Amino acid sequence: MSRSIVQAQSDNAPVASAAQRRLIVTLDGPAGAGKSTVAKLLAARLGYLYLDTGALYRAVAWKVRAAGIDPADAAAVAGLLPTTKVALEYRPDRPLVFVDGRDVTDAIRTPEISQLASLVSAIPAVREWLLPVQRDIGAAGGIVAEGRDLGTRIFPQAQAKFFLDADLTTRAARRHRELAGAGHASELERTQQEIEDRDRQDRTRDVAPLVPAPDAVRVDSSTLTVDQVVNRLLDVIAIKL
Ligand code: DC
Repeated sequence: MSRSIVQAQSDNAPVASAAQRRLIVTLDGPAGAGKSTVAKLLAARLGYLYLDTGALYRAVAWKVRAAGIDPADAAAVAGLLPTTKVALEYRPDRPLVFVDGRDVTDAIRTPEISQLASLVSAIPAVREWLLPVQRDIGAAGGIVAEGRDLGTRIFPQAQAKFFLDADLTTRAARRHRELAGAGHASELERTQQEIEDRDRQDRTRDVAPLVPAPDAVRVDSSTLTVDQVVNRLLDVIAIKL
């Protein structure tokens, strides 16, 4: 009995202390590794803001599609940016995403927009345009930011960096369940192929490719539950405090 009380105290102490210190925590990794689920829970445990940077690239992709622009035409995509307004509205349960004042929160979650986001994210002008947006949101700390280049490029000074991975079949199965749960038609094989293609694109692009930061802690979530991953991350954050 007394042991469990001590355990409870030692579990909560790092969380409270991290909350006071307002750290920058980054989570990078491939599609379907569980970054969003884990980042949201981690942010809630720490009392931090959750920043989904993939949503920003998806928002740009949505605009490119709505404007009927070829995503391979980098100059045309870049030309669209000065008249584009992307905004995130923070809600603890579900952050909302707006493009030019229109709520695109659900519309940006389709497989088509996933692929388009990966394509437009390889365009240097798009990455440059989104860089200050992300840094402004995270500058004051107290943030859990997830994406592909948070630890390497956006917040190289982050105090706690993670690279979350899982094997391809596990990632495909998770994404398949997620899509089906959101009412999108999804075939497991096709989802796996899409994830594989997107990862190849994200890992091999010239600008800010998906690579672990040298100082990132790597976690393979293939055989771990969500709680196990969150607790492992909290343990690392506690050591870094
Ligand atoms: O995390 P996500 O699946 O919502 O991201 C969609 C695409 O956006 C992803 O395939 C690559 C791109 N992206 C990126 O290049 N850099 C980030 N920090 C986040 C996402």
